[in-house]
Amino acid sequence: MKNYRIAVIPGDNIGPELMKAALAVLEATQKVDGGFTLEFETCLAGAAHYTEHGTAMSDEAIAACRAAASVFKAPVGDPAVRTPEGIEAGLLGGVLRTGLDLYANVRPVKLYPGTPTPLHGYQPGGIDYVIIRENTEGLYASRGKGVGGPNAMADTMIVTRAGTERVVRFAFEAAKKRNGAPADGVRRVTCVEKSNVLRSFALFREIFLEIAGEYPGVEAETIYPDAAAQALVMNPAHYDVLVMENLLGDILSDLGGGTIGGLGMCPGGNIGDQYAYFEPVHGSAPDIAGLDIANPASQILAGAMMLDHIGEESAARRIESALWLALEEGELSIDERGRANRGTMSAAEAVIARL
Ligand code: NAI
Ligand code: MG
Repeated sequence: MKNYRIAVIPGDNIGPELMKAALAVLEATQKVDGGFTLEFETCLAGAAHYTEHGTAMSDEAIAACRAAASVFKAPVGDPAVRTPEGIEAGLLGGVLRTGLDLYANVRPVKLYPGTPTPLHGYQPGGIDYVIIRENTEGLYASRGKGVGGPNAMADTMIVTRAGTERVVRFAFEAAKKRNGAPADGVRRVTCVEKSNVLRSFALFREIFLEIAGEYPGVEAETIYPDAAAQALVMNPAHYDVLVMENLLGDILSDLGGGTIGGLGMCPGGNIGDQYAYFEPVHGSAPDIAGLDIANPASQILAGAMMLDHIGEESAARRIESALWLALEEGELSIDERGRANRGTMSAAEAVIARL
């Protein structure tokens, strides 16, 4: 029987609540499946770790993540915990995303039943696209390295040929494995870029169009990000796979979350050629920490993405279906603010009962 060692980062604020719920689902899934086991190894990291030890994550914890079969991470961060330069301390984008060269941030936006979407006329599954966010360069290449002084600051956006080629290829490969856009069943990759204004985006677009030529079975199109913000609200069913620069992907994926019942429905994977980790799209939600109302669907679905990535595809589908049923039957209830109003752990139990 296959055994996978999983590095677990419980995170800050709502992080540990979500992680407890999602680990219960993973434990139950391995029992029902019977074909594999998971062994969890806790790695402390985040804002609380920074406050106590002066670093977001220890070298030992990073080594444990490198050695593990995969990494399962809850949200980290606390707006009150900052470096002397004024940015937040305790975030892991630098050590994990850049450090492990996880260039593709995969963020599915899918409408499940029973969720409080503000959009009208969409059936469950009627919104189903995935944002592939470039995860190692773009504007966030300047993470913590901005230059200037008290009266002016500059953060530089970096777009490289190699970095763009690999993430664009990842997007087209993802489209090949999907069933196309809900509106018309067409396999489609949409490149979001602001080449009307910035040369870095002109390069991103040029490379996108070059690589699109290698994938005749997938439709390719481009759109500017301001127009994309409207289109993802007014015509989301047109979209299948979208690929874009780092900051744009950060922003538009939260917008997508707003259309499907909130960020609590949004899982993500950070994937490279050698390593990967899985987490919710959202942050540590200090405003609802400790209240037992955080929606754990994001963390549970991130767990399913992790199983899919390590090769346990049927276990991953089992979790997704159980979550779908729990929402459809109203046992996992999400209120109009995107909160699990019957409790985080009881939401997980509703999923477990349907595995
Ligand atoms: P946030 O994503 O934590 O929260 C935004 C809003 O969504 C809040 O109203 C929150 O209550 C709600 N929300 C988020 N997740 C939810 C869930 N599962 N169920 C119900 N409601 C949910 O963004 P915010 O407040 O800007 O950031 C909080 C902290 O998280 C900051 O320290 C930030 O730097 C950090 N952060 C960490 C990330 C990570 O670990 N990958 C990603 C984004 C932010
Ligand atoms: Mg974000």
